[in-house]
Amino acid sequence: MTAARPPMGWNSWNTFGEKIDEELILQIADRMVDEGYREAGYQYLIIDDCWALKERDEHGLLVPDPKKFPHGMKAVADYVHGKGLKFGMYSCAGVMTCAGYPSSYDHEFSDAAQFAEWGVDYLKYDFCHFPENADCQNRYHRMSMALKATGRDILFAACNWGKEESWTWMRSIGAHTYRSTGDIFDNFRSFMGIFTSQLEHLCQSGPYCFNDMDMLTVGMYNRGNVAIGKTCTDGEYRIQFSLWCLSGTPLIIGADIREMKPEMKELLLNTDLIRINQDEECRPPCLLGKRSVAVPETDRENAVEPIRMVKDKLYTLLKHLSHQEFVIAFYNLFEEEQEMNCIFADAGLPYESGYGFHMRDIFTGEDLGVKRDYFLARVPGHDCKLYFCRLEKC
Ligand code: GLA
Repeated sequence: MTAARPPMGWNSWNTFGEKIDEELILQIADRMVDEGYREAGYQYLIIDDCWALKERDEHGLLVPDPKKFPHGMKAVADYVHGKGLKFGMYSCAGVMTCAGYPSSYDHEFSDAAQFAEWGVDYLKYDFCHFPENADCQNRYHRMSMALKATGRDILFAACNWGKEESWTWMRSIGAHTYRSTGDIFDNFRSFMGIFTSQLEHLCQSGPYCFNDMDMLTVGMYNRGNVAIGKTCTDGEYRIQFSLWCLSGTPLIIGADIREMKPEMKELLLNTDLIRINQDEECRPPCLLGKRSVAVPETDRENAVEPIRMVKDKLYTLLKHLSHQEFVIAFYNLFEEEQEMNCIFADAGLPYESGYGFHMRDIFTGEDLGVKRDYFLARVPGHDCKLYFCRLEKC
């Protein structure tokens, strides 16, 4: 069934924006298979905005740009399916897409039928140019119905950026995933802002309707369409990927997988992290502790006096997995290494229970044996440490 687990795949937007064509999509399909991404679970290949001509045809139908897609979309879908992958496309609930192409407002049922005919398995449905007086919830409901009316199993990936608190109603109108924030950019500040804004909403995310914190920028190193700010370090990408895994949010790669740095490929294909994302119980992480510090605000322009603001710098999270397994995760947002402490009583496991956690480091594989009462980790600056844990009598 569609979206029993967070969907995984690749999307053209983050790196390629408007510069998409058939050759690129076919090459990506090949690489998804040859480099092991499909095998690891990344099954959707999604073409984002900018695939159509600027005008509909005389029957009111969307037309793939023949310069970009000379053999039409059915041919692309067939190739993608032939590789054992699923095919995704993009439209928008407003009167134009974000990049100014025709979109599905008042064309919901005919466009959905067209997508089904081409063999589309996933539709990302954006929110630009949405008429001021139109009813947002009703329009997303309408496209959800239009996709169902096709009789084809199409994953409905709603993308209204969290407007009208999408986590409170997207499940009810049939969406399988819903974007809950504005766009991600390929920098640390952007993705940490997204994660912290969604942490308390993740309890409303689960099988068949997942909170989508936007596409991964892991491995982009500021190449592409969403490059603003300081290039991420490998440690920062480890933070992003593992937070997306712990949160059970869709894993949609945005980097060019034809030119992926080996360390980043290894990260995206890490079977332990993917297993955490795909765990059958789909529970969000709980926050065991965070440490906040007052720091001078350096980012505000024209500040007339020194302003201090509070930033959360250390996060300790715990996630329940199925079959009596857990993950403890430490996130250090300081530039320098920090010692981080997890008191097991904070996770419901006091010393007097007679139980401890048998721990294994997820990145190194090292077996740390059984720890009772607490665990201390040294975490490098802008990096993270994650441990699988099992209860053991001690
Ligand atoms: C919006 C979406 C992005 C991307 C662009 C395409 O900004 O949030 O993910 O689809 O539109 O124009």
